[in-house]
Amino acid sequence: MRTLESNALLLIIGVSLQGQALRQQADRFGILVGGAVNPDKFSEAPYAAAFARELNMLEPENVMKFGLIHPAAGRYDFTAGDRIVDFAQKNGMKVRGHTLVWHSQVPSWVTNGNLSSDQLSAILHDHISTVVKHYAGQVFAWDVVNEAFSDSPPALRSTIWFDTPGIGLKGPGTQYIEQAFRWAREADSSALFFYNDYGAEVVNAKSNAIYAMAKDFKARAVPLDGIGLQMHLSLNANLARLGENIQRFTALGLQVHITEMDVAVPVNPDGTPVDPAALQKQAQIYHDVAAACLQYKGCSAIQTWGLTDKYSWIPGFSQGKNGLALPLDENYQPKPAYDGLVRAFESAPLPIQPLTGSFEVVSATLGTTLLAPDSLASVFGEGLADSTETGGVSLQVTDSSGVARVASLLYVSPRQINFLIPADTQPGLATFTLSGASALSGTGSIQTVAPSLFAANANGLGVAAGTAVRVALPTMIQSPVAVFQCGSAPGSCAAVPIDLGLDAPVYLTLFGTGIRGRSTLDAVHASIGGKPVPVLFAGAQPQFAGLDQVNVVIPLELRGSGNVDIQLELDGRVSNTVQIAVQ
Ligand code: G3I
Repeated sequence: MRTLESNALLLIIGVSLQGQALRQQADRFGILVGGAVNPDKFSEAPYAAAFARELNMLEPENVMKFGLIHPAAGRYDFTAGDRIVDFAQKNGMKVRGHTLVWHSQVPSWVTNGNLSSDQLSAILHDHISTVVKHYAGQVFAWDVVNEAFSDSPPALRSTIWFDTPGIGLKGPGTQYIEQAFRWAREADSSALFFYNDYGAEVVNAKSNAIYAMAKDFKARAVPLDGIGLQMHLSLNANLARLGENIQRFTALGLQVHITEMDVAVPVNPDGTPVDPAALQKQAQIYHDVAAACLQYKGCSAIQTWGLTDKYSWIPGFSQGKNGLALPLDENYQPKPAYDGLVRAFESAPLPIQPLTGSFEVVSATLGTTLLAPDSLASVFGEGLADSTETGGVSLQVTDSSGVARVASLLYVSPRQINFLIPADTQPGLATFTLSGASALSGTGSIQTVAPSLFAANANGLGVAAGTAVRVALPTMIQSPVAVFQCGSAPGSCAAVPIDLGLDAPVYLTLFGTGIRGRSTLDAVHASIGGKPVPVLFAGAQPQFAGLDQVNVVIPLELRGSGNVDIQLELDGRVSNTVQIAVQ
């Protein structure tokens, strides 16, 4: 027989997340957590280990950019990108491609080639087509166009691809961007194609311009699948309108990826933060960004621009004035920023996953498939994990007489759903039907016991737990003592004697199932040794979902009775008995 403690433990294990890497946290939400990577560093064992341990997505920080992957006319070099794909595949990670069309890192054979718009158009078409095809089926999403809007929007940035001289589609609109997306789709019918930019994280003039483009593209079925919010932040970042921005893009049916997050910290010449509170402030920013993303189903990736402070573009870019921008320190140890991310994952409500694959229903208290009405049961299913569906799940129990009842769901995670077997479920084989994005069903055997307080079935198995508290003086409450001691064999709980020798009332607290939501105090009656005893409390146990608590007084006249049975009666139904010993 399981005691309350072991039952509680079972529930707690189901939700305890301590010690999980970021990728496991992200898996629970069906989202990606990534990092920009440099394949030259894979040979550094702690680097490779940290990326593989923490992340389920990689993005090349540089090696898929035009200048590196297409260094000369007609010559492509996929070596470094292929190493990333290989590492990712070996470690069960996805690869996000970056980037096909950008004004920076364009090789000199293009910038100095004195090329006409027609020639540039042909070069870009070939570039997009060749790179996307090479990685088809290996790179699941691409930043097709990067940073095309100027810093004083709504203008487009003047670039070699847009207007200097451009690929022949300059003019007031975003036609050259549209063309790039169409070429990308032509090359891969299933990858996701993103527009990626910085400074457009919150609702502002730049994100308004991008939003207008995105809305237009969606309306005209231009193959745009998502928006990348780079998220290169400082400690002064104002994120008040981040959620609103994510919301409006996802409402267009687009995915949002946080693509390049880092938070630059001003540092002293010795590398320490100028502000002693900087790392805590940074942690809060990491938390807030992740929490905002987790609020929206369409925000499906959180990526940092690197992973360790050992390798980050920030110190070089700021001439050493800033640094410490990433979640792991130079020795690959987690910083407060890392904890900020973990905290966001741990406190975000879990999406309800679509139901695919098989599941089994077991009693949460017994771990068997004997299920009593009113008892806590669990559905476990590996297939419950693979989704991002946040729609409602409901669970219906159809009993042997063919009556279907909706069960109350108490806890839902990607792999586990805890619920109460409806109270009036009839004995025999019941069918459980889970409904969500798709439906699943399974069967379980219902064994009757009423009101199932103390035990989950008539064999005496299941929850049976209690504590006794003696109140000697108004200010003195003795520590609670156990009243049952249970072995591992079914029905092996023995009563632990309760001493009534001190002429002070002893309160007995019992835990089980069967009261929740159906009874008032008046409806619950208790007897010990056949004699009615006062019930002081009957109702839901606030700390443990699905468990009830009943508090009764053990009258002093029971002193010396030895073994006596406790029984409850609820709505005219009588529970099984549990024995206590009274000295
Ligand atoms: O690899 C060469 C090396 O051979 C040479 O000796 C050295 C000399 O400068 O340069 C090396 O290339 C550098 C490259 O990073 C790899 O380290 C480039 O000069 C340098 O400009 C390049 O900087 C990158 C920058 O983009 C420009 O492309 C950063 O690493 C990279 O973090 C940064 O990433 C961008 C995103 O792509 C777009 N969003 C902004 C983000 C940060 O600027």
